[in-house]
Amino acid sequence: MTSSASDRSEADYDGPALAIRAEALSKVYGRTTALHELSLEIPEGQFFGLLGPNGSGKTTAIHLLTTLIRPTSGQARVAGYDILRKGVAVRGEIGLVFQEPALDPNLSVEETLEFAGALRSLPKQLCRQRSDELLELFEIGHKRAERVAILSGGMKRALDLARSVLHRPRILFLDEPTLGLDLPNRRKIWDYIGRLRRERGTTVLLSTHYLEEAEDCDRVSFLANGKMIGSGRPYELVAGLGNQIVELEGENLDRALALLSPRLGPCLRAGERALFRLPDEPLDVEGFLGEAVDGLRSVRKRRSTLSDVFLWATHPDLGEDILR
Ligand SMILES: Nc1ncnc2c1ncn2[C@@H]1O[C@H](COP(=O)(O)OP(=O)(O)OP(=O)(O)O)[C@@H](O)[C@H]1O
Ligand SMILES: [Mg+2]
Repeated sequence: MTSSASDRSEADYDGPALAIRAEALSKVYGRTTALHELSLEIPEGQFFGLLGPNGSGKTTAIHLLTTLIRPTSGQARVAGYDILRKGVAVRGEIGLVFQEPALDPNLSVEETLEFAGALRSLPKQLCRQRSDELLELFEIGHKRAERVAILSGGMKRALDLARSVLHRPRILFLDEPTLGLDLPNRRKIWDYIGRLRRERGTTVLLSTHYLEEAEDCDRVSFLANGKMIGSGRPYELVAGLGNQIVELEGENLDRALALLSPRLGPCLRAGERALFRLPDEPLDVEGFLGEAVDGLRSVRKRRSTLSDVFLWATHPDLGEDILR
């Protein structure tokens, strides 16, 4: 499905500057509020990351913005079109990679792309040319005549991505696109998405659990229990947390924690591991701990990452402090 500028009436189109604008978008299922009043402004060309733990509402947000489900309340525009009144126009401008690859196992690789092209009214010749390019790029050209059912997980992901960009969408939604992929396959996908952004200015909205992938985002937002709890540029969020973390490991951490907490504030604890944010002034942690070090297996300082921000921000007791 394609649409041209002439399809956009004045009332329905509010200019190209924002690729996505959501205002208080909510989705309620019975007693579950899957998404609560999400507001977003994503400029064209931005690489935006939606981050949050399992069940925090990422997929719900993506499904609302891609018109697969209808909001309980609130509104949004995608590519300038109202998601409720201009769903067909929205779908013409976007590509979507689902969290669960949604391919027909009985079609061949080639047929999958032909079918996707036909749905988008892409001329056959153009569809074949783009399909060839994408299959070569993702190194699955030799599988073109095979049934989707026999592809490996990584190949299915690559085909899913190829299918979602065949019509050259202005906005690409990626719901955990590299879930379960090994490093070379993740790289291949990210290299391609980088190229789309550079060469075509494609806007990308990503949800992911691999936080190192989100460090390349221009901007990220964290969701927890359906609510947005904070947003920012990844490097600013990391700086806000404190640029260094100290990690303690050991069977008996209590003594060390009792000494460090008054100096460094609350720690994040998981079993035999505890993390503290380190202040910018230098602290010789081992020296400070003195004999309490004996109970520990290791004391390690390292640079903070977006994963640390995520861990702190989504912690029920410590989160508030981080993102406000
Ligand atoms: N169709 C539905 N009916 C009822 N509840 C739903 C439905 N879809 C989602 N939910 C609930 O909404 C909440 C948010 O789910 P969602 O799939 O958006 O989370 P997510 O952040 O994508 O999680 P994950 O990281 O596990 O993919 C969850 O509590 C989920 O159970
Ligand atoms: Mg999800």
